[in-house]
Amino acid sequence: MTILPRPTRAGAAHTPGAARPSGTRPPGRTALRCVRRAGLLLVLLLPACGGTAPEASPVPFTPVADTQQLMATILEPASEVYWDAVGWIVDASGTTEIRPGTPEEWEAVRNAAFVIAESGNLLMMEGRVPDGGPWMGMAQAMTETAVRAIAVAEARDAQGVFDVGAEVYFTCTACHATYAIQTLNPADRPD
Ligand code: HEC
Repeated sequence: MTILPRPTRAGAAHTPGAARPSGTRPPGRTALRCVRRAGLLLVLLLPACGGTAPEASPVPFTPVADTQQLMATILEPASEVYWDAVGWIVDASGTTEIRPGTPEEWEAVRNAAFVIAESGNLLMMEGRVPDGGPWMGMAQAMTETAVRAIAVAEARDAQGVFDVGAEVYFTCTACHATYAIQTLNPADRPD
């Protein structure tokens, strides 16, 4: 598989180092209580806590991989770990089961599922969404399926890893069928 360098489309859209709204608030009991309650919604809720609403400031993320690189360096390797973890080899000497054998091997399968799940979020980031079509839903479907992939790996359910692994594969090909038809060849199938 060749990885061609491609210009990143997203770089210009973000302002790394832009002031974070949390840095603009004076400390105080009310503010602190608000901060504790707000949790992850901090940025959204700060104006409600009585401060001056900061200008909408983009989260200063910097996408490093373009979509092709994200596929080739993050999503595909993790998927291979997941798909290769469980299977059967049938040959002249009979059938050999492939299963994770140690806690570390199960952990690697679980970790791979986390990478797939979070990759769905990476695909939904500004700069990676190509159009207003089904992309978002497809990325979300992959994440939701991968959340189940995590669960069966944590339960050390080998048949579950096999079955949910196939479902993950369908979420890959669904998006490729729409957005990357050139990738749909037999070599991309899980072993
Ligand atoms: C939301 C859409 C989407 C999903 C979901 C998705 N892909 Fe992709 N994938 C793409 C697009 C678009 C490309 C073509 C990128 C390019 O060449 O610019 C691609 C390309 C690829 C490639 C070829 C990369 C190369 O080096 O040319 C591989 C491998 C791949 N995807 C693996 C996967 C796997 C494995 C999954 C599921 C676990 C997956 N993809 C899920 C959109 C998606």
